[in-house]
Amino acid sequence: MDPDDHHLFVSLGCATENLVLAASAIGLRARPSIDGDAITVGLEPGPVVKSTQFEAIPVRQRTRAKYHGRPEGGLALLERACAEPGVSAIFITDKTRIANVIDYVLQGNSVQMRDKAFMDELVSWMRFSEADAVTAMDGLFSRATGNLALPGWIARPLLRLFFTESGENQKYREHIESSAGIVILTADAADRAHWVAVGRSCQRFGLQVTALGLKYAFINQPVEVAALRTQFASYLGIGQRRPDIVMRFGAGPDLPKSLRRPPQKVIVTP
Ligand SMILES: Cc1cc2nc3c(=O)[nH]c(=O)nc-3n(C[C@H](O)[C@H](O)[C@H](O)COP(=O)(O)O)c2cc1C
Repeated sequence: MDPDDHHLFVSLGCATENLVLAASAIGLRARPSIDGDAITVGLEPGPVVKSTQFEAIPVRQRTRAKYHGRPEGGLALLERACAEPGVSAIFITDKTRIANVIDYVLQGNSVQMRDKAFMDELVSWMRFSEADAVTAMDGLFSRATGNLALPGWIARPLLRLFFTESGENQKYREHIESSAGIVILTADAADRAHWVAVGRSCQRFGLQVTALGLKYAFINQPVEVAALRTQFASYLGIGQRRPDIVMRFGAGPDLPKSLRRPPQKVIVTP
Protein backbone atom coordinates (compact mmCIF):
# COMPACT_ATOMS: atom_id res chain seq x y z
CA MET A 1 0.00 0.00 0.00
CA ASP A 2 3.01 2.29 0.42
CA PRO A 3 5.43 1.14 -2.29
CA ASP A 4 7.64 4.25 -2.34
CA ASP A 5 7.69 4.76 1.47
CA HIS A 6 5.70 7.97 1.09
CA HIS A 7 3.38 7.35 4.08
CA LEU A 8 6.35 6.02 6.05
CA PHE A 9 8.23 9.32 5.76
CA VAL A 10 5.04 11.34 6.35
CA SER A 11 4.53 9.30 9.53
CA LEU A 12 8.11 9.99 10.60
CA GLY A 13 7.36 13.68 10.02
CA CYS A 14 4.35 13.37 12.36
CA ALA A 15 6.55 11.81 15.05
CA THR A 16 9.21 14.49 14.50
CA GLU A 17 6.64 17.23 15.06
CA ASN A 18 5.56 15.65 18.37
CA LEU A 19 9.22 15.63 19.38
CA VAL A 20 9.74 19.29 18.40
CA LEU A 21 6.65 20.39 20.38
CA ALA A 22 7.60 18.27 23.42
CA ALA A 23 11.17 19.59 23.38
CA SER A 24 10.02 23.19 23.44
CA ALA A 25 7.68 22.39 26.38
CA ILE A 26 10.81 21.59 28.43
CA GLY A 27 12.89 24.53 27.17
CA LEU A 28 14.69 22.90 24.23
CA ARG A 29 14.72 24.22 20.68
CA ALA A 30 14.66 21.25 18.29
CA ARG A 31 16.20 21.44 14.82
CA PRO A 32 15.35 18.40 12.70
CA SER A 33 17.44 17.61 9.61
CA ILE A 34 17.09 14.81 7.09
CA ASP A 35 20.01 12.82 5.77
CA GLY A 36 19.07 9.83 3.60
CA ASP A 37 16.93 7.48 5.69
CA ALA A 38 17.57 9.24 9.01
CA ILE A 39 15.99 12.24 10.67
CA THR A 40 18.36 13.76 13.22
CA VAL A 41 16.89 16.13 15.78
CA GLY A 42 19.45 18.54 17.25
CA LEU A 43 18.49 20.05 20.62
CA GLU A 44 19.70 23.33 22.13
CA PRO A 45 18.47 25.46 25.04
CA GLY A 46 15.54 27.74 24.18
CA PRO A 47 12.46 29.30 25.74
CA VAL A 48 9.89 27.08 27.47
CA VAL A 49 6.78 27.02 25.25
CA LYS A 50 3.89 24.77 26.30
CA SER A 51 1.65 25.24 23.28
CA THR A 52 -1.96 24.07 23.07
CA GLN A 53 -0.74 21.73 20.32
CA PHE A 54 1.76 20.18 22.78
CA GLU A 55 -1.03 19.71 25.37
CA ALA A 56 -3.10 17.91 22.71
CA ILE A 57 -0.45 15.19 22.01
CA PRO A 58 -1.83 12.55 24.46
CA VAL A 59 -5.44 13.27 23.48
CA ARG A 60 -5.16 13.34 19.67
CA GLN A 61 -6.47 10.38 17.72
CA ARG A 62 -8.01 9.93 14.33
CA THR A 63 -11.75 9.29 14.56
CA ARG A 64 -13.31 7.05 11.89
CA ALA A 65 -16.94 7.89 12.59
CA LYS A 66 -19.86 9.93 11.36
CA TYR A 67 -19.43 13.51 12.56
CA HIS A 68 -22.16 15.89 13.60
CA GLY A 69 -22.62 19.58 13.18
CA ARG A 70 -20.41 22.29 11.79
CA PRO A 71 -17.99 23.85 14.25
CA GLU A 72 -18.12 27.62 14.71
CA GLY A 73 -14.86 29.24 13.62
CA GLY A 74 -11.45 27.66 14.07
CA LEU A 75 -10.68 27.47 10.34
CA ALA A 76 -8.04 30.22 10.50
CA LEU A 77 -6.28 28.35 13.35
CA LEU A 78 -6.34 25.13 11.32
CA GLU A 79 -4.89 26.90 8.29
CA ARG A 80 -2.14 28.41 10.45
CA ALA A 81 -1.37 25.01 12.01
CA CYS A 82 -0.68 23.53 8.56
CA ALA A 83 1.79 26.27 7.58
CA GLU A 84 5.15 24.62 6.83
CA PRO A 85 7.84 25.67 4.33
CA GLY A 86 7.43 23.74 1.06
CA VAL A 87 3.91 22.53 1.95
CA SER A 88 0.53 23.95 0.88
CA ALA A 89 -2.85 23.16 2.45
CA ILE A 90 -6.01 23.25 0.36
CA PHE A 91 -9.17 23.56 2.48
CA ILE A 92 -12.50 22.48 0.99
CA THR A 93 -15.72 23.33 2.82
CA ASP A 94 -18.06 23.81 -0.12
CA LYS A 95 -20.66 20.99 -0.46
CA THR A 96 -20.20 20.58 -4.22
CA ARG A 97 -16.43 20.27 -3.99
CA ILE A 98 -16.75 17.91 -1.00
CA ALA A 99 -19.01 15.75 -3.22
CA ASN A 100 -16.27 15.73 -5.89
CA VAL A 101 -13.71 14.51 -3.32
CA ILE A 102 -16.15 11.80 -2.19
CA ASP A 103 -16.19 10.47 -5.77
CA TYR A 104 -12.38 10.18 -5.74
CA VAL A 105 -12.35 8.49 -2.30
CA LEU A 106 -14.97 5.95 -3.38
CA GLN A 107 -13.17 5.20 -6.67
CA GLY A 108 -9.92 4.69 -4.73
CA ASN A 109 -11.62 2.51 -2.14
CA SER A 110 -13.13 0.30 -4.86
CA VAL A 111 -9.72 -0.15 -6.53
CA GLN A 112 -8.13 -1.05 -3.19
CA MET A 113 -10.88 -3.44 -2.06
CA ARG A 114 -10.62 -5.35 -5.39
CA ASP A 115 -6.85 -5.74 -4.89
CA LYS A 116 -6.15 -9.00 -3.05
CA ALA A 117 -2.65 -8.01 -1.93
CA PHE A 118 -3.98 -4.74 -0.51
CA MET A 119 -6.82 -6.51 1.31
CA ASP A 120 -4.51 -9.19 2.72
CA GLU A 121 -2.22 -6.50 4.09
CA LEU A 122 -5.12 -4.50 5.54
CA VAL A 123 -6.70 -7.54 7.21
CA SER A 124 -3.33 -8.54 8.70
CA TRP A 125 -3.39 -5.22 10.61
CA MET A 126 -6.94 -5.68 11.93
CA ARG A 127 -7.28 -6.46 15.64
CA PHE A 128 -10.76 -7.85 16.14
CA SER A 129 -10.88 -8.46 19.90
CA GLU A 130 -9.56 -6.73 23.01
CA ALA A 131 -7.27 -9.74 23.54
CA ASP A 132 -5.80 -9.45 20.00
CA ALA A 133 -5.34 -5.69 20.40
CA VAL A 134 -3.60 -5.99 23.77
CA THR A 135 -1.35 -8.81 22.59
CA ALA A 136 -0.20 -6.93 19.48
CA MET A 137 -0.37 -3.34 20.84
CA ASP A 138 -0.57 -2.10 17.26
CA GLY A 139 -2.84 -2.13 14.20
CA LEU A 140 -6.46 -1.17 13.75
CA PHE A 141 -8.60 -2.22 16.73
CA SER A 142 -12.20 -2.78 15.58
CA ARG A 143 -13.74 -0.84 18.49
CA ALA A 144 -11.49 2.14 17.64
CA THR A 145 -13.02 2.11 14.17
CA GLY A 146 -16.58 2.14 15.53
CA ASN A 147 -17.18 -1.62 15.08
CA LEU A 148 -17.94 -4.40 17.55
CA ALA A 149 -15.10 -6.33 19.16
CA LEU A 150 -15.35 -10.07 18.39
CA PRO A 151 -12.96 -12.99 18.87
CA GLY A 152 -10.71 -13.22 15.80
CA TRP A 153 -11.84 -16.80 15.00
CA ILE A 154 -15.43 -15.57 14.66
CA ALA A 155 -14.65 -12.23 12.96
CA ARG A 156 -12.21 -13.42 10.27
CA PRO A 157 -14.55 -15.89 8.48
CA LEU A 158 -17.39 -13.33 8.69
CA LEU A 159 -15.26 -10.48 7.36
CA ARG A 160 -16.29 -10.97 3.72
CA LEU A 161 -19.94 -10.65 4.74
CA PHE A 162 -19.72 -7.37 6.62
CA PHE A 163 -16.62 -5.78 5.07
CA THR A 164 -17.79 -5.23 1.50
CA GLU A 165 -16.90 -2.71 -1.21
CA SER A 166 -20.44 -1.29 -1.35
CA GLY A 167 -20.77 -1.19 2.44
CA GLU A 168 -17.42 0.56 2.89
CA ASN A 169 -18.18 3.03 0.05
CA GLN A 170 -21.54 3.88 1.65
CA LYS A 171 -19.82 4.36 5.02
CA TYR A 172 -17.14 6.65 3.53
CA ARG A 173 -19.84 8.69 1.76
CA GLU A 174 -21.78 9.19 5.02
CA HIS A 175 -18.62 9.93 6.99
CA ILE A 176 -17.39 12.57 4.54
CA GLU A 177 -20.83 14.14 4.01
CA SER A 178 -21.12 14.55 7.80
CA SER A 179 -17.77 16.39 7.98
CA ALA A 180 -17.32 20.16 8.15
CA GLY A 181 -14.49 20.15 5.64
CA ILE A 182 -11.57 18.44 3.98
CA VAL A 183 -7.91 19.45 3.89
CA ILE A 184 -5.41 18.27 1.28
CA LEU A 185 -1.69 18.71 1.91
CA THR A 186 0.64 18.95 -1.08
CA ALA A 187 4.39 19.51 -1.09
CA ASP A 188 6.50 21.47 -3.59
CA ALA A 189 8.50 18.32 -4.46
CA ALA A 190 8.12 14.54 -4.15
CA ASP A 191 11.13 13.59 -2.02
CA ARG A 192 11.69 12.35 1.52
CA ALA A 193 12.50 15.77 2.99
CA HIS A 194 9.24 17.16 1.63
CA TRP A 195 7.26 14.12 2.85
CA VAL A 196 8.65 14.68 6.35
CA ALA A 197 7.58 18.35 6.05
CA VAL A 198 4.08 17.16 5.05
CA GLY A 199 4.03 14.95 8.17
CA ARG A 200 4.94 17.88 10.42
CA SER A 201 2.14 19.94 8.90
CA CYS A 202 -0.26 16.99 9.13
CA GLN A 203 0.52 16.40 12.81
CA ARG A 204 0.07 20.06 13.75
CA PHE A 205 -3.26 19.98 11.92
CA GLY A 206 -4.35 16.93 13.98
CA LEU A 207 -3.20 18.51 17.21
CA GLN A 208 -4.91 21.83 16.46
CA VAL A 209 -8.13 19.97 15.54
CA THR A 210 -7.88 18.23 18.93
CA ALA A 211 -7.17 21.49 20.79
CA LEU A 212 -10.36 22.92 19.24
CA GLY A 213 -12.33 19.92 20.56
CA LEU A 214 -12.88 18.60 17.03
CA LYS A 215 -12.08 15.28 15.30
CA TYR A 216 -10.32 14.25 12.08
CA ALA A 217 -9.66 11.17 9.99
CA PHE A 218 -7.60 10.23 6.96
CA ILE A 219 -9.29 9.60 3.60
CA ASN A 220 -6.13 8.92 1.60
CA GLN A 221 -7.53 6.59 -1.08
CA PRO A 222 -7.19 9.20 -3.89
CA VAL A 223 -3.47 9.64 -3.14
CA GLU A 224 -2.68 5.97 -2.47
CA VAL A 225 -3.95 4.69 -5.84
CA ALA A 226 -1.26 6.00 -8.22
CA ALA A 227 -3.47 6.27 -11.34
CA LEU A 228 -6.13 8.16 -9.42
CA ARG A 229 -3.56 10.47 -7.80
CA THR A 230 -2.75 12.11 -11.16
CA GLN A 231 -6.44 12.72 -11.89
CA PHE A 232 -6.95 14.07 -8.36
CA ALA A 233 -4.00 16.46 -8.83
CA SER A 234 -5.51 17.82 -12.01
CA TYR A 235 -8.94 18.21 -10.30
CA LEU A 236 -7.20 20.21 -7.55
CA GLY A 237 -5.34 22.30 -10.15
CA ILE A 238 -1.93 21.69 -8.57
CA GLY A 239 -0.12 20.90 -11.84
CA GLN A 240 2.71 18.38 -11.50
CA ARG A 241 2.64 18.46 -7.68
CA ARG A 242 1.66 15.32 -5.81
CA PRO A 243 -1.32 15.48 -3.45
CA ASP A 244 0.18 13.94 -0.29
CA ILE A 245 -2.45 13.64 2.43
CA VAL A 246 -6.26 13.97 2.54
CA MET A 247 -8.11 14.44 5.84
CA ARG A 248 -11.66 15.28 6.87
CA PHE A 249 -12.57 17.18 10.02
CA GLY A 250 -15.56 18.23 12.07
CA ALA A 251 -17.30 17.83 15.42
CA GLY A 252 -17.51 14.14 16.29
CA PRO A 253 -17.89 11.48 18.99
CA ASP A 254 -15.15 10.06 21.20
CA LEU A 255 -14.13 6.56 20.10
CA PRO A 256 -11.84 4.15 21.98
CA LYS A 257 -8.16 4.78 21.25
CA SER A 258 -5.88 2.58 19.18
CA LEU A 259 -3.38 0.77 21.37
CA ARG A 260 0.29 1.59 20.94
CA ARG A 261 3.46 0.01 22.33
CA PRO A 262 5.02 1.84 25.29
CA PRO A 263 8.04 4.11 24.56
CA GLN A 264 10.55 1.72 26.14
CA LYS A 265 9.53 -0.92 23.56
CA VAL A 266 10.16 1.37 20.57
CA ILE A 267 13.08 3.56 21.68
CA VAL A 268 16.46 1.98 21.05
CA THR A 269 19.27 3.36 23.18
CA PRO A 270 22.81 2.92 21.83
C1 LIG B 1 0.78 9.20 6.93
C2 LIG B 1 -0.43 8.52 7.45
C3 LIG B 1 -1.42 8.09 6.55
C4 LIG B 1 -2.57 7.45 7.00
N1 LIG B 1 -3.54 7.07 6.11
C5 LIG B 1 -4.68 6.53 6.57
C6 LIG B 1 -5.76 6.22 5.69
O1 LIG B 1 -5.70 6.44 4.48
N2 LIG B 1 -6.89 5.69 6.22
C7 LIG B 1 -7.03 5.45 7.55
O2 LIG B 1 -8.06 4.97 7.97
N3 LIG B 1 -6.03 5.76 8.41
C8 LIG B 1 -4.88 6.27 7.94
N4 LIG B 1 -3.87 6.59 8.81
C9 LIG B 1 -4.19 6.56 10.21
C10 LIG B 1 -3.62 5.44 10.96
O3 LIG B 1 -4.22 4.25 10.59
C11 LIG B 1 -3.99 5.83 12.37
O4 LIG B 1 -3.26 6.96 12.66
C12 LIG B 1 -3.70 4.81 13.37
O5 LIG B 1 -4.18 3.58 13.00
C13 LIG B 1 -4.44 5.15 14.63
O6 LIG B 1 -3.64 5.92 15.39
P1 LIG B 1 -4.11 7.32 15.92
O7 LIG B 1 -5.58 7.27 16.24
O8 LIG B 1 -3.27 7.51 17.15
O9 LIG B 1 -3.80 8.32 14.85
C14 LIG B 1 -2.72 7.24 8.38
C15 LIG B 1 -1.75 7.68 9.28
C16 LIG B 1 -0.62 8.32 8.84
C17 LIG B 1 0.38 8.81 9.86
